[in-house]
Amino acid sequence: MAETNYPPIKMRGPVGKPIVRKSGREKVSGKATFTAEWPIDGLLHAVPVPSTIARGKVVSIDASEAKQMPGVRFILTPDNVPDFERVASGSETGFETSIASSIYPAAEKEVFYAGQYIAAVVADTFETARDAAMQVKVKYETTDHVTDIDQAPADERPGDVFGEPPVITINDAEAALHAAEVVIDEEYPTHMNHHNPMEPHAAIAHFTEKDEKPFLTVYETSQSISVAQTSYAKVMQLNAQQVRVICKYIGGAFGSKGLTWPHALLACFCAKVANAPVKVVVSRSQMYGGTGHRTPMRQRVAIGCSKEGHITSLIHEGTATVSRKENYVEAFTLPTRMMYDTQTLRLAQRQCRLDTQLPTFMRAPPETPGMFVLESAMDEMATKLGIDPLEFRIRNEPQKDIHKNKPFSGRYLVECLRQGAKEFSWHKRIAEPRSQREGSWLIGYGVASSTFPVNGFPTQARITVRDDGTAEVACCSHELGTGTATVQSQLLADLLDIPAGRVSMVLGDTQLPPGGISGGSSTTHSLGSAVSDAVEQLKKKLIDSAPKNSFLEGKSPKDIQFQDGHIIHGQDKLRLEDFLAEINRASIVVVGKFDGGEDSPTSNHSYGAQFVEVAVDEDFGIVRLRRMLACFACGTLLNAKTARSQFMGGMIMGVGHALQEATHWDHRLGRITNDNLSEYHIPVNADIPAVDIMWIDEPDFNASPIGAKGIGEIGITGVSAAIANAIYNATGRRCRELPITLEKVM
Ligand code: MOS
Repeated sequence: MAETNYPPIKMRGPVGKPIVRKSGREKVSGKATFTAEWPIDGLLHAVPVPSTIARGKVVSIDASEAKQMPGVRFILTPDNVPDFERVASGSETGFETSIASSIYPAAEKEVFYAGQYIAAVVADTFETARDAAMQVKVKYETTDHVTDIDQAPADERPGDVFGEPPVITINDAEAALHAAEVVIDEEYPTHMNHHNPMEPHAAIAHFTEKDEKPFLTVYETSQSISVAQTSYAKVMQLNAQQVRVICKYIGGAFGSKGLTWPHALLACFCAKVANAPVKVVVSRSQMYGGTGHRTPMRQRVAIGCSKEGHITSLIHEGTATVSRKENYVEAFTLPTRMMYDTQTLRLAQRQCRLDTQLPTFMRAPPETPGMFVLESAMDEMATKLGIDPLEFRIRNEPQKDIHKNKPFSGRYLVECLRQGAKEFSWHKRIAEPRSQREGSWLIGYGVASSTFPVNGFPTQARITVRDDGTAEVACCSHELGTGTATVQSQLLADLLDIPAGRVSMVLGDTQLPPGGISGGSSTTHSLGSAVSDAVEQLKKKLIDSAPKNSFLEGKSPKDIQFQDGHIIHGQDKLRLEDFLAEINRASIVVVGKFDGGEDSPTSNHSYGAQFVEVAVDEDFGIVRLRRMLACFACGTLLNAKTARSQFMGGMIMGVGHALQEATHWDHRLGRITNDNLSEYHIPVNADIPAVDIMWIDEPDFNASPIGAKGIGEIGITGVSAAIANAIYNATGRRCRELPITLEKVM
């Protein structure tokens, strides 16, 4: 076997087993404390006053009526907001800070979007604060606004698209397109999408004293508490040691809790003024303007091909939106850099500025929209060539990553396509649209590739091995609902070769060793790689602390193994507990590290293939999914059950992206009209058919020290294209605009 970036390790115990999530029982039995639920004495409640205009100035704030309401403590406005430091946002600092926005709550006299927190009411109860907030009268001076992507000049280039300039060219793709034997060249508009995790955002801020200095505790719905800790410290002018951030459970995040949004800073400001703990809970409707969205996009893909179906030109360009004052780059061309074999490539990104809140990450931010258009275009070209779309992809399988000029590691895309096709009975597809019918239902099959890059973040893991045979993993990481504690416990159990039930994990607290951002599908392998390093550190520590004349004395860590809870060296072995008894210690503690895994000599991504069968009602344009199947290649999977759930959750979110999710605007007012879950549609159980998930079970030791890649986001990628392609196969109607609602199918 060729040498890998990291030395291969063997897992032979609990890793991969379908162990049930520990947090599941805690959640359904009500034992899990979510952010808004921390019982804190003397808690006050703040409710923001959102701007009702999209752009302009605050002329005056009349809070006289609100102030007189019983239970109201004070109104926070730019006139009494406490001193704070304006810290550059995460998007502007390469995520060195977690600050989402450079527009601060209750601190601005200028209005940049409808929903911006102009002021806030602090009261004894949430209900009082909410009622009073409605009595705060704000006078505005309005300026013309633009909230429609099609009305704003798309003249701006983002500075940096995932470390590269916004335009990438390899040879002359436009000339090659012009010369190509077969060409498709289409535009694919996609709507704005808003985040709707089950648990809305919340924060509680509490200033106390520690060592005669102020000490700030923040409970926050967050995917990045380590970064949040230093960010709060900067904004509130404290040292990082004076701030603690806690987040024990999260009811879904999907990127919406990656950054510190204005409500959390508002809690800090109010707590400072009140000198009491203050809670801010973002309502469902405030999430439409309070916690980020997926930008609408206008994308073009052009493909030139030989008659034999070899790509000669590949062009992907388009426009995403950004807010008036801030920056965020949606890298929708990212997956096109390395998906298919082409000698000419042109990728170009532009932006237009809208008077909306800043867009943010939403599950597979570049790949969800990017793969929709690329994989739709691939289907269109296959159709034009008269080649099976699966075969067309296989025919254009690249030998290397042309953009990075690196060999691929663990790509397995062709295997995913072939194995998925076999299981799905793809051969039953009839290429000619409208060939399969059941009454008024037209039946169609669709396929698309999926992908997601391997992203890692620097992470530390502390492991404790105790004399009662148990062990613990500790890291300031996050439980997004995915089973972090379960799978990391499983991994440590595997590496020590002890039963998984003997290992537990603590997380969600900045007093634990620093963890990375739980975004970019990075947590499992970043944290897992730190756990694996901690096990190596444990070997060293055991040798160092071994008593004189022990068989471990002077030995090399690489000759030591753990087997069945024993320390093994050659023929010698000793139970870990007995070792601790020998050295008279109740436990032994070590910290392992992962550096984030920069600069791999290989191109590391996860891949997959999505298959969908749809039925489309010919008379009404109703689309019903009949089957979904996906096959993924994501390296080591630590837990078959949680992995399957992650993939399935992604695929279901993809159904929303394809068929339902759309934020609607009244552009005259510059305001959202469907800021609620009854009018912003997401899939429910009745929308989802049988979902089959398979994977290629191969560790990738180029991708990470534990051979794992990410699985949190790949599941959504390609789904919307597979659905659009299936609708085409069923009806002969090519839907290039998302979401594909009935009228677009008719
Ligand atoms: Mo993800 S969109 O990186 O939480």
